[in-house]
Amino acid sequence: MSEPTADLQAAAAQAAELRAQLQHHAHLYYVLDAPALPDAEYDRLFQQLQALEAAHPELLTPDSPTQRIIGRVLDGFAPVRHAVAMLSIRTETDTTAAGATAFDERVRRELALPPEASPVEYNAELKFDGLAINLRYEHGVLVQAATRGDGETGEDVTQNIRTIGQVPLRLLGAADTLPPVLEVRGEVYMRRDDFERLNERQREKGEKTYINPRNTAAGAVRQLDPAITAQRPLSFFAYGLGEVQGWNRPATHSATLDALAAFGIPVCADRAVALGAEGLVAFHAAMGAQRDALPFDIDGVVYKVNSVELQQRLGFVTREPRWAVAHKYPAQEQLTRLNGIDIQVGRTGKLTPVAKLEPVFVGGTTVSNATLHNVFELRRKGVRVGDTVIVRRAGDVIPEVVGRVMEGAPGPRMPYVPNFRQPRACPVCGSRVLRERGGMDHRCTGGLFCAAQRKQALLHFAGRRAMDVEGLGDKLVDQLVDGGLIRTLPELYKLGVAKLIELERLGEKSAANLVAGLEKSKQTTFARFLYALGIRHVGETTAKDLARHFGGIDRLMAASVDELLQVNDVGPVVAQSIRAFFDQPHNVEVVEQLRAAGIHWPEQAAALGPQPLAGKTLVLTGTLPTLSRDEAKALIEAAGGKVSGSVSKKTNYVVAGEEAGSKLDKARELGVPVLDEAGLQALLHAEA
Ligand code: IVH
Repeated sequence: MSEPTADLQAAAAQAAELRAQLQHHAHLYYVLDAPALPDAEYDRLFQQLQALEAAHPELLTPDSPTQRIIGRVLDGFAPVRHAVAMLSIRTETDTTAAGATAFDERVRRELALPPEASPVEYNAELKFDGLAINLRYEHGVLVQAATRGDGETGEDVTQNIRTIGQVPLRLLGAADTLPPVLEVRGEVYMRRDDFERLNERQREKGEKTYINPRNTAAGAVRQLDPAITAQRPLSFFAYGLGEVQGWNRPATHSATLDALAAFGIPVCADRAVALGAEGLVAFHAAMGAQRDALPFDIDGVVYKVNSVELQQRLGFVTREPRWAVAHKYPAQEQLTRLNGIDIQVGRTGKLTPVAKLEPVFVGGTTVSNATLHNVFELRRKGVRVGDTVIVRRAGDVIPEVVGRVMEGAPGPRMPYVPNFRQPRACPVCGSRVLRERGGMDHRCTGGLFCAAQRKQALLHFAGRRAMDVEGLGDKLVDQLVDGGLIRTLPELYKLGVAKLIELERLGEKSAANLVAGLEKSKQTTFARFLYALGIRHVGETTAKDLARHFGGIDRLMAASVDELLQVNDVGPVVAQSIRAFFDQPHNVEVVEQLRAAGIHWPEQAAALGPQPLAGKTLVLTGTLPTLSRDEAKALIEAAGGKVSGSVSKKTNYVVAGEEAGSKLDKARELGVPVLDEAGLQALLHAEA
């Protein structure tokens, strides 16, 4: 072939420049979660590169960002022999602090450390719940990705892994400084929000939902068609190394992870260098407390001796290193038998199918009831009485049945009970059941006529965050309602000790306690009272906003939908729900009777004036000349506005002061109006 023409040289230089830019922005976007380019601009660069590569196919490189989703449907995965075996780690089954202490003691014993020797340094990290992957980079370019397989031989899943935006196709750094061979090991997983969105899409399409993020991630990596993998939102975290050539690896595991992060590889920030057993115990406790708030599932933490030299001294037993251990948390999912399905009626009449389970220990407690959400979920999950089901309980979340185990269900299965498919009558009061248009929920229309709704309304009313009536629990509410003592909320305050002790199993002391609790609850706040009424869509925050806005119940009861819409965060659905509630004469009567019974609250300062910033979102950046950040925020909120931490297309104004940073750039980029303090003051004092 002829010498490269000047044209081709220019194209090559331009392609290299575009790739570098796209790589940089992909790293900011996927790995650091801090995009610096609007999506449209990224797309434009991407298309430019695509056009260039189409015109000059000889310029195409395997690490080009255009090569992520290119692949063909495979018949199967080719085997990959690991250069360095992919080991597993020992699991400390004791989920208490003792698990961490036991590991530290073992390490000290095996290193023959005397008791007075200083504590061993560990790197503590999370145990991600996904699928282990080995990424092989040669001179900085991703050349192969393989699953663990049996540890010696895995499967070649390169074309699937390439579709994961977080996995760099090329490492950051100058080509001549990158190691000839660097194998990075880590976990492919799925974030919970990505999993929920994926299931949401499945639901919209009327397709089967996935059971949990872990299985979904593992399944996606082992898809023969990379186009399908590309549609699954997968993420990746590195936690170690495989084969390395020509790289002076750092002397500790923690520094190794830092070095991987500098290469542009995602490394989880929730890790710590921990000293001795004490440090490990603290990490285990801290992560245990945060576990449910993490954006992804973990089933424990992993401790690793930090010094590579000590790791080598410790070595391996069979296929597990002596220098690492997994320390688990109590499992959040368990299998059990579904003994029955009940339909429960909630406070607002919502019908919820509830699974009656063979009691099982999960997420730290024994669970015997779990929600099945609604009849559509019930149908989609296809669970029937007698099935073995997966029960999940994470943190304070209500336990739920996630699905059933397909295998090993011998014999014929129980039929569906028709009433679950299309409930028409309330199982408690027999009233008609309606389904809101387009909604998933069925509701009993019985209102307070329905004993189930009445019980829930009472419990809500008496709840700690509402009227806070001490001594009124579910058992007592059941008795009061079933015994016909209470039909409406105000009747609560007519209960006397004499009447109460007629109830079976209620002693004089409990009766007196309840009466005292009721008396005490009469002194309350407007917001609590409003919340206690149980108006649909009026939660605690909305109740507070309404109380602040209207100042008094009479003004609120008289407010039109338009007036209600002026309140912070109140949209049409909430406004209509409030209006509909007070349009019912019996609800107004309930309010009057409760006030007549003596419920009172300190009158609030005159209702707020106009709300010129109602419905507006503002972002503050930099230092304002006279107002502090908190003062500016308070003024904006008092004017009905919201303050957000990041600029998006939905931001109405950015208020910028001295040394404003990237938020100001972003505002300019998106064309969001930018104000100074004087501009903000003008807005605050504008007529609504
Ligand atoms: S280290 C030689 N660190 O847990 C040590 N593994 O048996 C090799 N895992 O399936 C593993 N998070 O994929 C390590 N922070 C972490 C991990 C982790 C999850 C997985 C790993 C493997 C299993 C360990």
